[in-house]
Amino acid sequence: MTVTVSPLAAPLGAEIFGLDLKRPLDDATFAAVRRALVDHLVVVVSGLDPDFQALLRFGRRFGRLVPHVLTQYHHPETSEVSIISTDPATGAGRTTNAPAGAFWHSDLSYDANPSDATLLYSVEVPAQGGDTLFCNMVKAYQTLPAAMHKRIEGLTAVHRYGYRGGDAVVDLDKQQHARHPDVVHPVVRVNRDSGRKALFVNPGFTIRIAGMGADESRSLLDDLFDHCRKPEFHYRHKWRPGQIVACDNRATMHSATGGYEGQKRTLWRMIVRGSG
Ligand code: SIN
Repeated sequence: MTVTVSPLAAPLGAEIFGLDLKRPLDDATFAAVRRALVDHLVVVVSGLDPDFQALLRFGRRFGRLVPHVLTQYHHPETSEVSIISTDPATGAGRTTNAPAGAFWHSDLSYDANPSDATLLYSVEVPAQGGDTLFCNMVKAYQTLPAAMHKRIEGLTAVHRYGYRGGDAVVDLDKQQHARHPDVVHPVVRVNRDSGRKALFVNPGFTIRIAGMGADESRSLLDDLFDHCRKPEFHYRHKWRPGQIVACDNRATMHSATGGYEGQKRTLWRMIVRGSG
């Protein structure tokens, strides 16, 4: 199979053409897809059938798929896939006041082993709204002033599921909470595949800088988050049915958006385990 990779007119992202998940995916083709994800941080593939097994096989090529902490939204066929939906007919319709994931976050940053990548597949999309925003955390890091680079060098931060997701967060039950104690990660991560540095803090799950006073920590994180919220680092994906959008969680964060009240929107999500 021959695929072509076409960068999007955005600060991150590329579209992949020629991928046919109905046919076996040879190693060279998959390597090209994986390379595109490392280079562009977000990849989009369109025109894919809702063939659950084919999508699952594709997701598994990226690594082990991690069951999401919110076990109540696991797909009935496998916990490797979660359902993000407003549609009660899926059996996993969300009842939160804000759309699921409508806060900037990197999937599993609250885990001791944060995720390498997330794949989202659009089953049904609203006529309007429901876009997903992605932020390029490599560019965000690179464009910080030198004094800030110096200030954050060597710092670590504490992460916790659902810390600041507001109305978009589903609270963990006792068991889910017990499986997810606070974890600490470097504020700047070096991507082992690209060698590039990226900011690795996010408004949704990062609660404080480790070893820093509360006020100083809040002010530093707010400065970093204000910087990352600049549209010059963002790609806004407008969904069509039958698309996969994958993001590199080591070097991006993402946020759902609203604007589709009363309409159906269903995505399948696969989260790839971190490789360190
Ligand atoms: C997510 O946060 O993983 C879901 C994003 C979306 O629903 O747009």
